[in-house]
Amino acid sequence: MKRSIVIAGNWKMHKTNSEAQQLANQIRMKTIDITKTRMIICPPFTALAPVYDIIKDSAIHLGAQNMFWEKEGAFTGEISAGMLKSTGADYVIIGHSERRQYFGETEETVNKKIKTALENGLKPIVCVGETLEQREENITLKVIGKQIRGAFDGLTPEDLQNVIVAYEPVWAIGTGKTATPEQAQEVHFEIRKLIAELLGRETAEATVIQYGGSVKPGNAESLLSQADIDGALVGGACLKADSFAEIIHIAEKLKK
Ligand code: 13P
Repeated sequence: MKRSIVIAGNWKMHKTNSEAQQLANQIRMKTIDITKTRMIICPPFTALAPVYDIIKDSAIHLGAQNMFWEKEGAFTGEISAGMLKSTGADYVIIGHSERRQYFGETEETVNKKIKTALENGLKPIVCVGETLEQREENITLKVIGKQIRGAFDGLTPEDLQNVIVAYEPVWAIGTGKTATPEQAQEVHFEIRKLIAELLGRETAEATVIQYGGSVKPGNAESLLSQADIDGALVGGACLKADSFAEIIHIAEKLKK
């Protein structure tokens, strides 16, 4: 089964609207030759519509970094799936470890958000990952298993066609420490195995599983060459057009 390579940039809480438009424009110019790799950029909510204006005629897709599951109502500060769609976004990151860690995201809220995203035609990028203590305690696979089961509760194989999984070990995020390609591959393999158990082998084989955590031009090739690593969710290195475009070009050259 041939899976496409998907490179997404999570801009986190960076960029004013003018800075965001400038960065999006630079990325667009530097990736004009890309035909095979799926490219997604995820600016903050405030910059979604302005960035969409820049990339709408390009191959770059727009994603958000979070959303709420209710359709509308008295939920001050929250943003619905419909609102995201109206900006031009077609992806949304769900359950990023920073949201689990700082904003009380749970397996239950992650599951609700995934279902709402899918109902509204948004493709969720579902993040899972263990902390350093959990890795040292040797419970990485148990933790990831629980997160995946929780996230995918009630989903069908058809739903999974529109879901991307991102394995992001918490200890590798923003720390400059990357999981070795072997460490990442081991977890990706187990995630795929679990998806096969839950939703069938065919679904598992077709699911894109990205790696995230200090992905840079210097380590992208070794990570993306692994059998079960189908892309990257890039943080720091996506804030500069040069390094993000370089990672995309590395992906484009790799024939899986
Ligand atoms: P860094 O690439 O900065 O480690 O961030 C990874 C990440 O959290 C992407 O979602």
